[in-house]
Amino acid sequence: MEIFSTIKETRDCLINLKKEGKTIGFVPTMGALHRGHISLLEQAKKENDISVSSIFVNPTQFNDKKDLEKYPRTIEDDILKLKAAHCDVLFAPGVEEMYPSTLVKEPEIDLGNLGKVMEGKLRPGHFQGVCTVVKKLFDIVLPNKAYFGEKDFQQLAVIKYMVRILNIPVEIIPCPTFREADGLAMSSRNVFLNPDERKNVPLIYKTMMEAKLLNTNKTISELKKWVEEKVNENPFLKLEYFEIVNSETLQLITDTHLPITGCRACIAVKVGTIRLIDNIAL
Ligand code: PAJ
Repeated sequence: MEIFSTIKETRDCLINLKKEGKTIGFVPTMGALHRGHISLLEQAKKENDISVSSIFVNPTQFNDKKDLEKYPRTIEDDILKLKAAHCDVLFAPGVEEMYPSTLVKEPEIDLGNLGKVMEGKLRPGHFQGVCTVVKKLFDIVLPNKAYFGEKDFQQLAVIKYMVRILNIPVEIIPCPTFREADGLAMSSRNVFLNPDERKNVPLIYKTMMEAKLLNTNKTISELKKWVEEKVNENPFLKLEYFEIVNSETLQLITDTHLPITGCRACIAVKVGTIRLIDNIAL
């Protein structure tokens, strides 16, 4: 695996490979890699000649400074995992390389409703930061296809939208959520859960799956109330939101009678100071 920390080296290497007619599959990450990340890389390897991953803890997408400071950084271990997965190129820049000037404000993208609901509402500026860094990364890596996890469903919708409105010639490939055996969605933040919390968090996925079965004779507000009670009766968990949304526009669906199909149920739960998000198809 080639490892680069500068834009120039990365671009030179990848432009040469593209000139040889090779296709590039790209998996952007913030590191602290787990099996979920590696499943994206495996899909990228299957569908492209060259697999590229990036590791960059992007400061502009953190609306909470403490969250940024304590985000897990495990680069040595990550490199071993990427090598074991036969990743071809890793781009792991420092903050200066990606954001050389703190004076220039990055242009904002009007995300409309996509930026206003759920994570957009609770984490102001988060998706602008994600768009800024993903756009920069696409300009450096020039991928044919880029792989994003359905785990971060709203992020995936935002990236698909950005690529469409800015005419970025990259195909966005959604990848299924990789879970622990007990249903917990893998996340870099799971390492912060203490043993008691870890024992209780599978209830998040379990409740959503049960809600899916109840998607029959209830109204949406009854279903939301049911989920809220089910999550909050566990002393380790506090529901932030449970929403049923249109899978493309993420418009909140509030006034339809159940059952509904072709939608997404999205959840955010606080576990102590940690926030976990998850979602399933309805
Ligand atoms: P990060 O949280 O490291 O996630 C990198 C990619 O892995 C994202 O596309 C995410 O959706 C996917 N992913 C995380 N957990 C997963 C799981 N359990 N199953 C499947 N895929 C999973 O998302 C980011 O980084 C950043 O916002 C980034 C896009 C890199 C921009 O900074």
